[in-house]
Amino acid sequence: MNLPCQRDKFEIPEAITYLDCAYMSPLPRKTILAGRVGLQKKAQPWTITGDDFFDLSERLRAQMAELTHAKAGDFALVPSVSYGMAVIAKNLELPEGSKVLILDRQFPSNVYPWRDLATRTGAEIIHISPEAGHSWTEAVLAAIDGETALLALPQVHWIEGAELDLIAIGKKARANGALLVLDLTQSLGAVPFSVTAVDPDYFVVANYKWLLGPYSTGFLYAAPRHQSGQPLEQCWQSRFGSENFAELTQYTDQLAAGARRYDMGERSNFALLPAVEASLAQLLEWGVENIEHSLRNITDQLASIAAKHGLQPDMASPRAANYLSLKVPTDAPSDILQQARAAGLYFSHRGDRLRITPHLWVNQQDLHRFDQTLGNIF
Ligand SMILES: Cc1ncc(COP(=O)(O)O)c(C=O)c1O
Repeated sequence: MNLPCQRDKFEIPEAITYLDCAYMSPLPRKTILAGRVGLQKKAQPWTITGDDFFDLSERLRAQMAELTHAKAGDFALVPSVSYGMAVIAKNLELPEGSKVLILDRQFPSNVYPWRDLATRTGAEIIHISPEAGHSWTEAVLAAIDGETALLALPQVHWIEGAELDLIAIGKKARANGALLVLDLTQSLGAVPFSVTAVDPDYFVVANYKWLLGPYSTGFLYAAPRHQSGQPLEQCWQSRFGSENFAELTQYTDQLAAGARRYDMGERSNFALLPAVEASLAQLLEWGVENIEHSLRNITDQLASIAAKHGLQPDMASPRAANYLSLKVPTDAPSDILQQARAAGLYFSHRGDRLRITPHLWVNQQDLHRFDQTLGNIF
């Protein structure tokens, strides 16, 4: 279903055309309200209850489970992708001489932990890039063999907006005994994802882009077969029985059930978690299939406008619905972003590409401003 324009749910002035969700989403009005109520609680700490410490984080896990067809207990609360990947890396042993596959120009939070792990274990990092005319999925599938120990991938390439077929990749990874670790930061909330279909070993997501949530919050998914590992921090809240504040010094080595054992310290953030909950509730109400369908419609329109001005995606992979990534022409001016911003138009410049990433706030005036501004610049 195509969703109508949702601009009234955001605080975006009419003079701004914001096409930069892959950089940072604006918070919906309801999310800001929930965050204010949460922050206010710390002004009156006697209003902070067990619900804030425990029930709220359980509700967030349940929302993530609904979004990805997983179980609530499969999720840990983490502050960033880097943190989630560090938990995963701590729990992995790779055979010496085995291969770790990553994409060329992958986001650093899904590269540095594997470089470190490879140094520790003697594994080798392989950067994959497709040959001309071939897709990222074809390149990844061709690279998997019996020596592959780990694939650390996104669902959508953060610069190009190419979408990978994770079902096919997951299947071949399992057939070769390789682990599949995903960074879903540039897709979850905008592109459907199901753990039952893909069966990853782990995934991590930062909330502040397509989950429309606050900065410094995110989730780590650990498949049930990876829920007996070690956390990064020895925090009291992720120990068994920590709900009973009176008995916290009855120290225990038993960790909380499921992926909760991997939670970060002070995970019960009274200001930020209510905001995360409000944003996830909004996404679930819209429905990710509907969001994807509507974003496809918007990026298709933006693509037609860009083509009029000589700008093309120029890639062989399928384009994710939430992305339009345009090759910068060789004769383009050097101040593209400054010129666009002066006209109220916001997008990113990454490598040799302009990254155009809208959401449901885009209206007709935005399409018009995009057209006019590209016409003036190119
Ligand atoms: C693909 C991807 N992963 C992760 C992040 C953020 O990583 P972290 O939470 O470690 O700061 C970004 C931010 O741009 C990103 O594009």
